[in-house]
Amino acid sequence: MTTPEQTSIPAPIISVLDISESAVVVHRRGSTVWRVRSRDAEYAVKLGYPITATDQWEAAEWTALAPAREGAVLQELGSATAAYGVWDRGTWNVQPWHEGSDLQAVWAPHRTRHEVSHPPTRDALACARALTELHDKGYVHGDVQPAHFILDSERTSAAIIDLALVHGAEIPKRFDFPYRGCLVHYEAPEISRSVLESGEATPTPEADVYGLGATLFMAATGWRHVEYQDDAPRAEQRRAIVNRSHRPVNVVRPLGWLINDMLRFEPRDRPSMQEVCKALETEAQ
Ligand SMILES: Nc1ncnc2c1ncn2[C@@H]1O[C@H](COP(=O)(O)OP(=O)(O)OP(=O)(O)O)[C@@H](O)[C@H]1O
Ligand SMILES: [Mg+2]
Repeated sequence: MTTPEQTSIPAPIISVLDISESAVVVHRRGSTVWRVRSRDAEYAVKLGYPITATDQWEAAEWTALAPAREGAVLQELGSATAAYGVWDRGTWNVQPWHEGSDLQAVWAPHRTRHEVSHPPTRDALACARALTELHDKGYVHGDVQPAHFILDSERTSAAIIDLALVHGAEIPKRFDFPYRGCLVHYEAPEISRSVLESGEATPTPEADVYGLGATLFMAATGWRHVEYQDDAPRAEQRRAIVNRSHRPVNVVRPLGWLINDMLRFEPRDRPSMQEVCKALETEAQ
């Protein structure tokens, strides 16, 4: 019997890549990620498989397709080394490894008990530029969160990862699946509302802007943008996002003001990513 977990890289991927070293980075429901060394470069290998229902979580099939979907997006974006395929329980992808640390880790020292957090604007700018680049190419990320921005060691630029839910790319039909929202802590109210009403939503640039606002707020303070119980069911979390106002943004101005604008309830009231970058550039000088 196959276990619901997968802890080894399937043999065909190992031989295609000629892997000399590998280490598990993340291993959780529906997905396993390895950092691997192949000849002279490092890659992330992602493996997806279905989630089996337990009394704590629901079953899900889309996690099996997510790596192939992301692989198709990466190839459309022009990644020369991204590859993807199927294995017996789902799909996999290989993509360049981004050296660095994610925003949540980089801003850990700023999550103090002080009333107002003072994170560096230039880190926010690096993340904003990565998202803007994606928007400028005509894509929406759909799953913005602190772990998805990897800042390089000099913290001058950031890579945006986990492109499995990107909107705007041509996806082979057999690997596509509907967008059913993202990690609720970073979801815009209109996305939450749509998921509550119909089970699905359409990612938009405005919802990404909201997601970046919630991301900066979380990384800077450790707080979710809207208050709800840690163990609240997802529908309840979404209802809180739709019906409650977000927490006061206790981040130093003017970054705090900008986050506040990004978290506006109405999508049309939020700044565009270009405007966000402009405001951060002025501040970071
Ligand atoms: N290309 C990459 N470069 C560096 N690190 C990566 C890369 N891809 C994935 N990772 C690491 O693996 C983690 C999980 O990757 P990713 O978010 O893409 O997978 P996931 O299964 O979709 O996870 P989640 O369900 O949390 O979104 C990332 O937070 C990051 O630490
Ligand atoms: Mg992820």
